[in-house]
Amino acid sequence: MFFKLHSAFLIAATVSSLLSPSLSQDTSVATVKAAFDNANIPEDAYITFDPTVLLEASFPQPSAPAVPITAGESVARNLTALPPSFGIQCTGSAIPEGPFVVAMVDLDAPTPQNRSLAEVRHFLGGNFDLGHPNAHGLALLSNSSPAVTEFQQPSPPAGSDPHRYTFLLFRQSASFNGQTEVNSTTSTLSFNISQFAVDYDLGNPLGGTYMLVGPDASS
Ligand SMILES: *[C@@H]1O[C@H](CO)[C@@H](O)[C@H](O)[C@H]1NC(C)=O
Ligand SMILES: *[C@@H]1O[C@H](CO)[C@@H](O)[C@H](O)[C@H]1NC(C)=O
Ligand SMILES: *[C@@H]1O[C@H](CO)[C@@H](O)[C@H](O)[C@H]1NC(C)=O
Ligand SMILES: *[C@@H]1O[C@H](CO)[C@@H](O)[C@H](O)[C@H]1NC(C)=O
Repeated sequence: MFFKLHSAFLIAATVSSLLSPSLSQDTSVATVKAAFDNANIPEDAYITFDPTVLLEASFPQPSAPAVPITAGESVARNLTALPPSFGIQCTGSAIPEGPFVVAMVDLDAPTPQNRSLAEVRHFLGGNFDLGHPNAHGLALLSNSSPAVTEFQQPSPPAGSDPHRYTFLLFRQSASFNGQTEVNSTTSTLSFNISQFAVDYDLGNPLGGTYMLVGPDASS
């Protein structure tokens, strides 16, 4: 039941991203890679990041067009309340084979200066398959199983500098669905997406993006 609601939700998100022009989705893997490198994300997440596909992440809004993520740009926390939808930009490149795993981790908990609780796992899900590309070449990813870790909204502590919330796309391995490291009661703190990828043969990320989110302005 919960899953059905989630699917309906993803479809609604697709429709809204179809209606609104893609104002600021990532448009080049080279630009995304440069943004990751400039922000030191490969080193801090212990990953090799040589993206071959454009992962698009977009936050649906209750009564406004969805807010797409551009690698490295700031997003107000209040725009990140609802689970993001994910897609792959298929224009001009071979359409990758699924299924896929998507992860979202905070590299800067509790603060960028003190990363002792990082990574915080904000989302981890598998069995994502690609839909058909829309007129702009964007194919939505929809999951056919509940997420391993359901989406948790960014919540940096008051006074913190903005955190790097990082989204990574992996090709799903045969062992992923049998993974035993993470379930719904596993602490989301001190996660290591790199170690998880090693343990379950996910390889290097195929793509990714990230956003900066700080505490609410009023806090
Ligand atoms: C870093 O954050 C942890 C967790 O909040 C805290 O226990 C620790 O005292 C902090 N370290 C420093 C040097 O501020
Ligand atoms: C989650 O994993 C822990 C540790 O392996 C285990 O003790 C617990 O029973 C699991 N919980 C669920 C809901 O599967
Ligand atoms: C995370 O995992 C990677 C890959 O196994 C490892 O190299 C790295 O040291 C780990 N990071 C931490 C903080 O344990
Ligand atoms: C979100 O917060 C910003 C300030 O950070 C504020 O200007 C804006 O009105 C808020 N938007 C909504 C939809 O609440």
